[in-house]
Amino acid sequence: MAAAAAIGDDAQRAARPIAPGATVAVIGAGAMGSGIAQVAAQAGHPVQLFDARDGIAADAAAKLGHRFDEMAAKGRLAHDAARAAAARVAPITALGECGDAALVVEAIAEDLAAKRALLHALDGIVGDDAIVASNTSSLSITALAAGSRRPARVAGLHFFNPAPLMPLVEIVSGVDTSCPVAATLFATATAWGKSPVHARSTPGFIVNRCARPFYGEALRLLAERAADVATLDAVMREAGGFRMGAFELMDLIGLDVNFAVTRSVFDATFGDPRYAPSFLQQELVDAGHLGRKSGRGFYDHAPSAMRPTPQTEARYAAPTRIVAYGALGAAAALVERMRSAGATIEGVDAKPPFPGGVIGAGGAWLAPTDGRTATARAAASGARDLVLFDWALDYASCARLAVAVADGCAEPAAAAAIGALQSAGIAVSRVDDVAGLVVARTLAMLVNEACDAVKEGIAAPQAVDLAMQKGVNYPRGPLAWGDEIGAARVRDVVAHLAAHYGEPRYRVSPRLARHAISSQPLAWSSP
Ligand code: NAI
Repeated sequence: MAAAAAIGDDAQRAARPIAPGATVAVIGAGAMGSGIAQVAAQAGHPVQLFDARDGIAADAAAKLGHRFDEMAAKGRLAHDAARAAAARVAPITALGECGDAALVVEAIAEDLAAKRALLHALDGIVGDDAIVASNTSSLSITALAAGSRRPARVAGLHFFNPAPLMPLVEIVSGVDTSCPVAATLFATATAWGKSPVHARSTPGFIVNRCARPFYGEALRLLAERAADVATLDAVMREAGGFRMGAFELMDLIGLDVNFAVTRSVFDATFGDPRYAPSFLQQELVDAGHLGRKSGRGFYDHAPSAMRPTPQTEARYAAPTRIVAYGALGAAAALVERMRSAGATIEGVDAKPPFPGGVIGAGGAWLAPTDGRTATARAAASGARDLVLFDWALDYASCARLAVAVADGCAEPAAAAAIGALQSAGIAVSRVDDVAGLVVARTLAMLVNEACDAVKEGIAAPQAVDLAMQKGVNYPRGPLAWGDEIGAARVRDVVAHLAAHYGEPRYRVSPRLARHAISSQPLAWSSP
């Protein structure tokens, strides 16, 4: 079996891309097929474009010609190069014309039976050495390849939309895909200027699986009415450092498309509760509120619509004296920030009554979340006036933080704690007292998911981190990010979520549990 994650670095380095002059056939001239044809033509290959519907391939080729002209006009491509690239794209009207292709990339409709029928037809057309690649984003490459006489030469070549702009390409190996074929595709994608990663054929491959918690936790927080969508999005952007919040992103992708991906991963994993679709999202899809494309999703996109503003606490006075207790981890930078803003900070090593927190004189205990609610943690520690703050990508520079206030906390104490954060120039969003707040809970689940993907041999740690940065623009790879926070802290958040909800959705990845004990970096290639 070709374990893609196990393709050695040496074997990969030795692999050659398909020859620069070799013909690439692209089957399906829709959004993805056209984009892939553009990439291959720009890389110097003669490209044949075929579509089952009459005239579509010719239209797509003509549009590509215009696109190359525009690129030349904008100075992004030399005029000669643009003309040459356009001339390399040839629409074909019969599948049988692609017999000389060294690489066939199929980008037809996402339908297993249709794709298998296509692969079967290609068996009688392409040469024995040709590679047949599928751009499928959700179907099993193993199941697809079973439709071919040469399953060893079938692999996934999963581009992201828009293919010419998005750098990531997942090279997906099914059970029978040969290592040299996967390595050739990797080398070819590299030669085309892309950032490829190897993945094993499993539901969602790397990105569509490892990104599920980003949407899943946001939807869960909304369902629990932790905060409104604008606040949850603002916290993920301004504290988490993500380019977009989950609701903004779902509106952009299309709620129906996002929901279908979640459903397909959920179904393909035989109903693993980790990937359970959200009833809230189903309701919006059923109502036809699909996001930007329908004018309304989680947000109203009508031109006249007011953009909702995130909940932000009014300004409170900061305590003049703050005492820091115990090991704060990354949040130590926050204490420094308050100090720079003029607060007197006294450090105290003593652990009890509340390790790893700060307190303003006469104020509340203020501590980073560990995955428990503030109320549960206050009850366990005896620190009644407790305010928890969320994780941040960078406490030294974040513009916003979410906080949760324990049920028994006196309001003046909560105000002092919030004022302490505000004194450092941080906008504070007070969310309901939910377990793990917003960024911590989402990020811990993303790290947990990435750990399981590595543990299951779907991809190497470096591939997972690269895929999430290049495929969905995460500010850090989840495993390297987990190392920054500390595996034990991440494990604690997931374990506390599991205890809080009592659901297997929040089970701790065995790899995360192990690394939390051994202190081996998560981003390393160990199991
Ligand atoms: P699309 O609907 O824009 O284009 C599909 C094209 O394939 C159509 O022009 C259709 O006429 C043609 N077609 C259908 N059956 C055919 C057949 N048997 N032979 C030849 N042509 C056929 O679809 P899109 O979005 O380009 O997706 C294509 C593939 O890429 C799907 O497998 C999809 O899952 C995958 N994908 C899509 C992404 C996206 O964001 N749209 C991202 C990554 C992968």
